[in-house]
Amino acid sequence: MSGKTVTCIGAGYVGGVTMAVIAAKCPDYKVLVTDIDEEKIKRWNTDDLPIYEPGLLETVQKARGRNLFYLTDVKSCIKEADIIFVSVNTPTKTFGEGAGKCVDLQYWEKTARDILESSDRGKIVVEKSTLPVKTAEAMKKILESNKKSLKFEVISNPEFLAEGTAIADLETPDRVLIGSSQTKEALAARDEIVRIYEHWVPSEKIVTSNIWSSELSKLIANAFLAQRISSINSITPLCEATGADISEISKAVGLDTRIGGRFLSPSVGFGGSCFKKDILNLVYICESYSLKETAEYWENVLKINEYQQERFFLKMLRTMFNTMAGKKIAVFGLSFKADTDDTRESPSIYLVKKLLAEKAQVALTDPKALRNAFWAFGDDAEKIELFEDPYKAAENAHAIAVVTEWEVYKKLDYERIFGKMSQPSFIFDGRNILDGEKLHKIGFSFFALGKPPLIRD
Ligand code: NAD
Ligand code: UGA
Repeated sequence: MSGKTVTCIGAGYVGGVTMAVIAAKCPDYKVLVTDIDEEKIKRWNTDDLPIYEPGLLETVQKARGRNLFYLTDVKSCIKEADIIFVSVNTPTKTFGEGAGKCVDLQYWEKTARDILESSDRGKIVVEKSTLPVKTAEAMKKILESNKKSLKFEVISNPEFLAEGTAIADLETPDRVLIGSSQTKEALAARDEIVRIYEHWVPSEKIVTSNIWSSELSKLIANAFLAQRISSINSITPLCEATGADISEISKAVGLDTRIGGRFLSPSVGFGGSCFKKDILNLVYICESYSLKETAEYWENVLKINEYQQERFFLKMLRTMFNTMAGKKIAVFGLSFKADTDDTRESPSIYLVKKLLAEKAQVALTDPKALRNAFWAFGDDAEKIELFEDPYKAAENAHAIAVVTEWEVYKKLDYERIFGKMSQPSFIFDGRNILDGEKLHKIGFSFFALGKPPLIRD
């Protein structure tokens, strides 16, 4: 029995989910998850959880009320803790120096000060949020500025889960990375964190490193993943110009074991709260060390992503005779990927805004994310029709744009849909998930990424 109390500050996509898995796997730890957002905590305590993630509810139910508690009183959760994971948001700064690139660390720093204020003994503080390299130094400085002579150790343990597969990613991770400085006390603190993961993660997958490598590895892992997507997306216009097929290229390239087949699916652009933010952060850090070439290299990953989003929209506009005004367009998907309700940086938001600017009538459907539409579009949400049912969204539409790769969109009865659409009917598949030949036979003009178009006369 460890008898230890772990507190997590921040009950979002990472904190809320990671702690549910830790609590489920480690019944000998008491796990407290706290957040300033009272509404969110309220929902963590019901079966209508604040986020949708396959398998999450079952995991929460295993431990909630036993050794897992979602609480609003941040101060007492800090006070009770032996180990504090900090998993607050670290968005891109929108003001002042570094606006649009560097990380806004205000939420992060606030937690450091809260920890200091509410602690009456030393603690281990774990960076779970994704942070610029060297943040641990700032955290330690703030924590050690105390007059109570309390000793804190700061450990880096970045999270690599992907939304939609978070539970599986946490239960069987490729690796768990734990960075620390090399003093005797820091190494002992690191081993405390290792002991938590050892409850279910094989020891060869628990990797320890120096603290700066750990912080930076997280940014680099995301940058590499995003780079693969931009690499394959950058080839889609070349395929369209030459008659090559991007699926055949992904397969041929990915079968090289040195390259590997994952993250080579072309798309209407990557979304999500982190790829863009983390690459911008990497670019900013490189620039601050005067590493212009490295900064430009990574910035191009983002430029290709913007180009791909714009290209998809322009393909729709040009194909539909350069006018969308008054036409109904059914947009299939609002979340940034399948199996999540998260809409942050979703390519769907970009597309819908472009369609609205063309005065199109937008009918948006999504199996899980519609409740976030107001958050995603602000006042524009009122101009969009929202449908749970994709068949309804497509009724009388001139075109369908598939933006999220939800399984359900592969299985729809497109013959039925075609019968109720305006003619000529177009489908733009921004995920290459539909059977173009079949749809073409039904009567659609069909456009995928990096493939020859299948046009009806
Ligand atoms: P999120 O916005 O879903 O959750 C952050 C939570 O922190 C919010 O609920 C917010 O209310 C809370 N918070 C902010 N300041 C607080 C304070 N002072 N006290 C208590 N609570 C506070 O964010 P997220 O998606 O969980 O991301 C958190 C961090 O994890 C980010 O650094 C992100 O880059 C990183 N990350 C995210 C993912 C992902 O898939 N979302 C994966 C890996 C890493
Ligand atoms: C990503 C990383 O995969 C996680 O390891 C990391 O922890 C997380 O960011 C983070 O730091 O937040 P996530 O954004 O949740 O996870 O989801 P991904 O599966 O990486 O997808 C990101 C975007 O890329 C989605 O829009 C997805 O549709 C797109 N994508 C993914 C493609 O366009 N093509 C692909 O082949 C794969």
